[in-house]
Amino acid sequence: MSFSAAQIRKDFPIFERTVCEGKRLVYLDNGATSQKPLSVIESESDFYRLHNAAVHRGAHQLAEEATDAYEGAREIVAAFLGAPGGADEIIFTKSATESLNLLAYAMGNAPVGNRFAVGAGDRIVVTEMEHHANLIPWQQLTARTGAELAWFKVTAESRLDLSTINDVITANTKIVSVTHQSNVLGTINPLAAIVARAHEVGAVVILDACQSVPHMSIDIKALGVDFLAFSGHKALGPTGIGVLWGHMDLLNELPPFLFGGSMIENVTMTTATWAPVPQKFEAGVPNMAQAVGLGAALNYLTNLGMDNVHAYEVALTGYLLEKMHAVPDLRIVGPANTQSRGGTLSFTIKGIHPHDIGQYLDSQGVAVRTGHHCAWPLARALSIPASTRASLYLYNDESDCDALVDAILGAQKYFGRF
Ligand code: ALA
Repeated sequence: MSFSAAQIRKDFPIFERTVCEGKRLVYLDNGATSQKPLSVIESESDFYRLHNAAVHRGAHQLAEEATDAYEGAREIVAAFLGAPGGADEIIFTKSATESLNLLAYAMGNAPVGNRFAVGAGDRIVVTEMEHHANLIPWQQLTARTGAELAWFKVTAESRLDLSTINDVITANTKIVSVTHQSNVLGTINPLAAIVARAHEVGAVVILDACQSVPHMSIDIKALGVDFLAFSGHKALGPTGIGVLWGHMDLLNELPPFLFGGSMIENVTMTTATWAPVPQKFEAGVPNMAQAVGLGAALNYLTNLGMDNVHAYEVALTGYLLEKMHAVPDLRIVGPANTQSRGGTLSFTIKGIHPHDIGQYLDSQGVAVRTGHHCAWPLARALSIPASTRASLYLYNDESDCDALVDAILGAQKYFGRF
């Protein structure tokens, strides 16, 4: 397939506008959130204009239509991920952060004897490159239960140090929760060894796939993980919708997290029993229009073909890496080539603070993120206070990369480096 970012951009209304007094929008903050194609915006607005009603409740036509649209979105997500147990394994949340918190809280609710019960003597394993959303919930769970937290360190080459895998994932490890692709480094982690060792000791593997699901083809069966979380808004979908996938037998055993309407089977004044999965984890009226919008987003990606999206982004990342290597005093914070890395390129520039770089780039119409990127322990491990991050997506092209590099060179001149 011939992949045309210029053609794709026409599907995204936001690229019709300019920024900073008439400058072309060079949007390179896709790691934070993606822009939305018209089909997503319209599907969300059509839901409100034509079908709005509370799902799973009303005895009327609109409620049926809303339920069909919402459950249809669940089917789309299941097919997109290759969920082995189908749509019932898909739980809608408000964000990936909520998906990961759901797991940590639900595991914290597990009674003694439940396979998820965590206590003193148990271990939870993460990595040094986690986003705060996949670190703090586990810190809190260990603090509440007396379990210990351990982690894989990051090497000078921005890879996970798996040389100590048997010392990190020990026989008492119950949970291994890792990012698929770092939101700072772009590193794509080698899951096979981690999954094999975790399963050897009977631990479950949770995958934070926020930065991978939007950019590559995902086949849950091939990954071998037990749970997976991602957010809609980084994958062309709306904000306010996240996904948690889990193996049905594990979801059946996992206690609920939020309690209330929709998630019950039977209630008396003193007791309650739970509805089957996925309703057990979807208390209250869910984010319906957002789920429908996510369905439209995944359909958009599927029409392009995720292998095409990935191949295009790898080539574009290679182009940008090469250009960045040529910039004096620029340090790439992440793998130097495209091997097992995505299109998230963080960098520092000698003598200029990342926030100043970000501000200068903004003045040139180039949108990036600066700071510790919600991964403060990683910044500490790398001994950098912050970095500037450009993150690519399918509507970016070489002209965006050129604009970024030109603006970096302009910043160096502006701040008197050359
Ligand atoms: N998690 C998002 C990022 O990395 C917000 O920017």
